[in-house]
Amino acid sequence: MDAAQRVAALRREIERHEHAYYVLDAPTIPDAEYDRLFRELQAFEAAHPDLATADSPTRRVGGRPLVGFAPVRHVVPMLSIRTETDTEPSGAQAFDARVRRELGLIESDPPVEYAAELKFDGLAINLRYESGLLVQAATRGDGETGEDVTQNIRTVRSIPLRLRPDGSALGAQRGVPPVLEVRGEAFMSRPDFERYNARQRALGRAPLVNPRNGAAGSIRQLDPAMAAERPLSFYVYGLGETRGWEQPATHGAVLDALGALGLPVCEHRAVVCGAQGLIAFHARMRELRDALPFDIDGVVYKVNSLALQQRLGFVTREPRWAVAHKYPAEEMLTAVEAIEVQVGRTGAITPVARLAPVFVGGVTVTNATLHNEIEARRKDVRVGDTVVVRRAGDVIPEVVSVVLERRPMRDLPGDEPLHPAFELPKSCPVCGSAIERPEDEAIARCTGGLICPAQRKQALLHFAGRRAMDIEGLGDKLVEQLVDNAIVKTPADLYKLGLLAMVNLERMAEKSAANILEAIEKSKQTTLARFIFALGIRNVGEATAKDLARHFGALDALVAADVDALQQVPDVGPVVAASIARFFAEPHNLEVIEQLRAAGVSWTEGEPSAVVNSPIAGKTFVLTGTLPTLTRDEAKDMIEALGGKVAGSVSKKTDYVVAGAEAGSKLDKAQALGVAILDESQFRELLQA
Ligand code: IVH
Repeated sequence: MDAAQRVAALRREIERHEHAYYVLDAPTIPDAEYDRLFRELQAFEAAHPDLATADSPTRRVGGRPLVGFAPVRHVVPMLSIRTETDTEPSGAQAFDARVRRELGLIESDPPVEYAAELKFDGLAINLRYESGLLVQAATRGDGETGEDVTQNIRTVRSIPLRLRPDGSALGAQRGVPPVLEVRGEAFMSRPDFERYNARQRALGRAPLVNPRNGAAGSIRQLDPAMAAERPLSFYVYGLGETRGWEQPATHGAVLDALGALGLPVCEHRAVVCGAQGLIAFHARMRELRDALPFDIDGVVYKVNSLALQQRLGFVTREPRWAVAHKYPAEEMLTAVEAIEVQVGRTGAITPVARLAPVFVGGVTVTNATLHNEIEARRKDVRVGDTVVVRRAGDVIPEVVSVVLERRPMRDLPGDEPLHPAFELPKSCPVCGSAIERPEDEAIARCTGGLICPAQRKQALLHFAGRRAMDIEGLGDKLVEQLVDNAIVKTPADLYKLGLLAMVNLERMAEKSAANILEAIEKSKQTTLARFIFALGIRNVGEATAKDLARHFGALDALVAADVDALQQVPDVGPVVAASIARFFAEPHNLEVIEQLRAAGVSWTEGEPSAVVNSPIAGKTFVLTGTLPTLTRDEAKDMIEALGGKVAGSVSKKTDYVVAGAEAGSKLDKAQALGVAILDESQFRELLQA
């Protein structure tokens, strides 16, 4: 292929991807792959200026306005920023060096001050406030003209419909400006994305491809009610047109002022000095990346002084004073080498794609989940396929989609795919028992129960888990050997283990064998809630186990309860009640429980519902920040022991927020909603009331 042909092919391919991305909201390749194609085209055009054309995708700024929404002309164009493709720290050095050069600084001049923030992965939105009221929200579009998405943006809870008059000491002025346009990113948080997709999967509907697509789809919904079903978040990172607003002198101060007006500003930002400061911020946020509840694809550095920003100005459509410094991509392409199934603790069969190793989301991934049979078929993943793999946060890697145009085909006849569609095996690959999937469920299960070594191993690991019997050192390698050598069949067998059996295992030193035996011994003294949780009854998680322990007080009362009695427990519905009843109806399970008790596993039994009189029974708490003396788990245990609940996020239903050092957005939210906020000593007082 000569250069002209390659350029034409690249343009066709890029245009196809742009159409899929911007118009259909259904991209077929990851951004990283698109960027690669785009850069290849740019390089060709630079090397062969005669091949450059006015209509090349490289000549365009961004998306194009969609039909269906009224066009909005931006008074101040919405620009994009240059991306530093070097994901290593040197990217920050290169930016700092450029800024210093442009400003004519010499080595002896002091370091430049930068505002460093996160690069949110969503959709740029311009919000226009007039006299404090939100009057319009628009997408970026092509930078000059965007789409009016006011109705949909109004459904985003964190965007104020009215600015809060700025009475804080930070404000450069009091009251609200006549015109204030702010720019920021609308995105879908990972918990909202996971929740939405779990529901879609349960309903047998197509899930969203990734949070960014979820955000784009939500904003571009013509029906605001549909938009509201896909909850979005928003963070402000800059300004558009302003009138009658005295602008602070630095970008950092602008964000502070916007925050004081009630606009959502991300807490993870900093004003730093020079390349060293940028590098440190880049590293710190990379560490934080997995723990954030939303996707970021990098950080953004901006020259902090607005006067210096003005001096630096723009090159074509990009400011010289800002740069995006990326992290390794969270979506990449790789090849499927095989599709296998895994058997979970409750027999759930999960199809898993074995992949050619690929560096994604900062780690090398070789396996990715296909979730279940229905999903695997919907995505139609086959051996040999090129697939998009996603790993974001600490969520397990998943196959997002197949790049169909790269599927290997039979030469002739018929031009059929080389490999057949995936089918779930009829019998368990581990124990050979039948695999069954109830009509109305998405998940197929191995019917082997504890006969199946795979389920047995998972059950043992669950039993020994930290929040269950807490047997330290009983990890998957050891369980694997204990089960494979038929030394341990049920949890009760753990308490019959002797030093001899242990030291005969592979790679087991006498010392560590003794430690594990000691941990097993120690686990005998436990609580009823932990014991119930450890049994691994389907649909009985830690919270339900605690509710059951509290309600029944004693194991025998729980074992004897029928489904009606079980449904008296708060939060236990017919499905959970049926699983519990089914578990205790199984003679084999009762036998194991008897053996455990005989081996000395014990707990203190209490009166049924002993905590109804507790001051916090039924109350919901949210923990945030670091408490002076209590760990999060300790505080949680204290709350739950008294019949309270611990939730992950603050809402109107939250009764108390317990806040420690470096509490972040949850504290702000509690304040905004007027939820009671306690420090550790007030918290302790409340529990003693
Ligand atoms: S500043 C003139 N700051 O990244 C500077 N952009 O091309 C305008 N983005 O689509 C952008 N986080 O939506 C800026 N903290 C941040 C950002 C950010 C995400 C997006 C923005 C734009 C793209 C930059």
